[in-house]
Amino acid sequence: MNAAAQAATDPDVQVITHPLVQHKLTLLRQKDLSTSSFRRLLHEISVLMAYEVTREMPTHLVEIETPLTKMMSPVIDGKKTCFVVVMRAGSGFLDGMLEVVPGARVGHIGLYRDPKTLGAVEYYFKMPHGMDERDAIVLDPMLATGNSAVAAVDRLKEARPKSIRFVCLLAAPEGIANMRRHHADVPIITAAIDERLNDHGYIVPGLGDAGDRLFGTK
Ligand code: URA
Repeated sequence: MNAAAQAATDPDVQVITHPLVQHKLTLLRQKDLSTSSFRRLLHEISVLMAYEVTREMPTHLVEIETPLTKMMSPVIDGKKTCFVVVMRAGSGFLDGMLEVVPGARVGHIGLYRDPKTLGAVEYYFKMPHGMDERDAIVLDPMLATGNSAVAAVDRLKEARPKSIRFVCLLAAPEGIANMRRHHADVPIITAAIDERLNDHGYIVPGLGDAGDRLFGTK
């Protein structure tokens, strides 16, 4: 079994195989895509992924009145959800998630990858108050070496959220293994597990640099 197939057997790694997500991901991977198309597709995928990510979201019953009668009906408590954006590429995932859960709170973690060591360096951290009552959903499109993901979750755990899940678009087996070593308690939700990393820490086949493609910086 290759590394990607092996990683997919982990019960805490969920691959979203919905045909719409897979179709849009294929379009997104292609190199000759304009910045605006890349941004639009990432947005569309994040809306679709939000449906899976929020599948287990707790609901409670409220009394409402239909034109015919009163009834108890379920609502989610969106404010208890906190999307945690790992800057900068994670912001491309945010708007789609907020479309589905508009009441969610948003935290930001700023990390960049040291090009020599590939280690994560933090430059920003801001969470909403009351994290102990919130379910945190970390958004970072590329789980590559996993160093930024591990560093982001390390920092987030200091804020003591009620639960943490990690959502990415592409994951490398190396990144999943790194997360499993450091944060075995954090489920990973992804649209695909790719083959491997190259010598520069990029996911292969991947889609290139998600931040650069999203913001047109290269
Ligand atoms: N970050 C990216 O944007 N792409 C990769 O392939 C790896 C890390």
